[in-house]
Amino acid sequence: MSLLQVRDLNIFFRTQSGSINIVNNLNFDIEEATVFGLAGESGSGKSLTALAIMGILPPNIYAEGTVNFKGTNLLTLSPEAIRDLRGREISMIFQEPMTSLNPVLKVGHQIREVITTHLKVTKKEADKITLGLMRAVKIPAPEIRMKEYPHQMSGGMRQRIMMAMAIACSPSLLIADEPTTALDVTIQAQLLELLRDLRQQKNMAVLLITHDLGVIAENAEKVAIMYAGRLVELADVHTLFEEPRHPYTIGLLRCLPRGKGTPLKPIPGTVPKPNHLPPGCKFSDRCGFAIPECKTKEPALRKIKDGHLARCIRAEEIEQYKVA
Ligand SMILES: Nc1ncnc2c1ncn2[C@@H]1O[C@H](COP(=O)(O)OP(=O)(O)OP(=O)(O)O)[C@@H](O)[C@H]1O
Ligand SMILES: [Mg+2]
Repeated sequence: MSLLQVRDLNIFFRTQSGSINIVNNLNFDIEEATVFGLAGESGSGKSLTALAIMGILPPNIYAEGTVNFKGTNLLTLSPEAIRDLRGREISMIFQEPMTSLNPVLKVGHQIREVITTHLKVTKKEADKITLGLMRAVKIPAPEIRMKEYPHQMSGGMRQRIMMAMAIACSPSLLIADEPTTALDVTIQAQLLELLRDLRQQKNMAVLLITHDLGVIAENAEKVAIMYAGRLVELADVHTLFEEPRHPYTIGLLRCLPRGKGTPLKPIPGTVPKPNHLPPGCKFSDRCGFAIPECKTKEPALRKIKDGHLARCIRAEEIEQYKVA
């Protein structure tokens, strides 16, 4: 059985005039100790999916469906039970660590708090584990830096503190939501390398969320592409890059730098808002390969071959579009 099974996950936003569906019927599995990439443009529903798995959706948003983690449906757990799992079995790192670190507590204290919440250890033992974690995330002079406040650290160092907190109890699943987007490219590369090392050492599965397919290519084994709250393509990483079957995936791939002199081709238009989705295929109004039928009936996510799904009625003809 997979470590995480997401089944018919729907996420809704409550408004005075009723609920708006933001994430629609998601289904995917994450196997133990593997990296699963979730990609898509801003507003496609990636973060809300992560927050639903973690049980930390904002009050005006709710989820339906099942999220089975080691056989338990997280969506029906009591708040106490999910709080106990969080940090111990599943943890998360966010794009901007400043918003998730407490500005008035020293970073060492914040790491230690995760340890003492979940493990029965003395204060001295917790300090020792804290130092070990700071070394594991390669923070220089940890004895000194553990006494610093978040604002005294650089963005990259703060993200390392977040990582130390996230791996403190050796969770089975780490959710990393755009963990490096706010940082410059050198720091980004260092942190992704650190994430790869930690994942191997700790044997963790990772749900890696990003809008950057380059990051996916280097880090993930399986990939799901999300558009307007739906999965539009799902495949192993090699297949997705070599044989994409959805025009949106191809559009994202065309946005990747392809060497000197090759211009980037952005996808025209923007992701529609959840309450203004077009009828039919949600991508049809931006799709250069759409035919009239695409505008009337929403295609199902269907099997192209084992382990490869795409939500496009023209998936088999896609070579023509790739060349164009
Ligand atoms: N608290 C909220 N209240 C209402 N709508 C929200 C809320 N949070 C997100 N949304 C809407 O839900 C949709 C999905 O948002 P989400 O943050 O999951 O996207 P995302 O894929 O993570 O985007 P990004 O790449 O920008 O992080 C967006 O249309 C967004 O406007
Ligand atoms: Mg997001």
